[in-house]
Amino acid sequence: MHQDVERILFSQKEIAAKVKEVGAKISEDYAGKELVLVSVLKGSVVFMADLMRAITIPCSIDFMSVSSYGKGVRSSGVVRIRKDLDEQLEGKHVLIVEDILDSGLTLSYLREYISQKGEESVRIVTMLDKPSRRRVAVYPDYTCFTVPDAFIVGYGLDYNEIYRNLPYVGVLRPEVYGG
Ligand code: PRP
Repeated sequence: MHQDVERILFSQKEIAAKVKEVGAKISEDYAGKELVLVSVLKGSVVFMADLMRAITIPCSIDFMSVSSYGKGVRSSGVVRIRKDLDEQLEGKHVLIVEDILDSGLTLSYLREYISQKGEESVRIVTMLDKPSRRRVAVYPDYTCFTVPDAFIVGYGLDYNEIYRNLPYVGVLRPEVYGG
């Protein structure tokens, strides 16, 4: 385990099993439909890479990059699009792929944005759900794990852009971020 990690919440093995399970469920639910997975950079790339390989039906992928207007903005929920979708979504079933659903502000904005693209449906799959921090009513359709209100890193999640490559999900030691 990395020295900055206090404890592991979900091991590589546990994650692999859960992602496989969620991928199978998605494959079943979307059978016969035109599915597009939209990954929200950067945190979701690790989950996206594993999840898409756990999905056994044909699907396409796309990426979006968004950022909040400064630190305080998380509160306003205003999101700036840094990289927009490449694909047309008309007639497609969109599944937004996230690493974590926290306040819900990012996803609430994105779901609304994507809902104006003429798609057939928009749903959300998140690796982690932190419901204790929710500020707006947004619920994931598929969740791998529910997490407590702690500073979580690994499997795509960062602190100051590091720890994303840890293969497990863990709690960061408070002394690392001055908590
Ligand atoms: C994280 C995460 C979600 C968002 C969730 O992204 O990937 O997009 O925060 O938080 P919310 O529910 O409070 O809106 P972040 O802005 O940290 O960027 P990153 O994915 O590049 O790390």
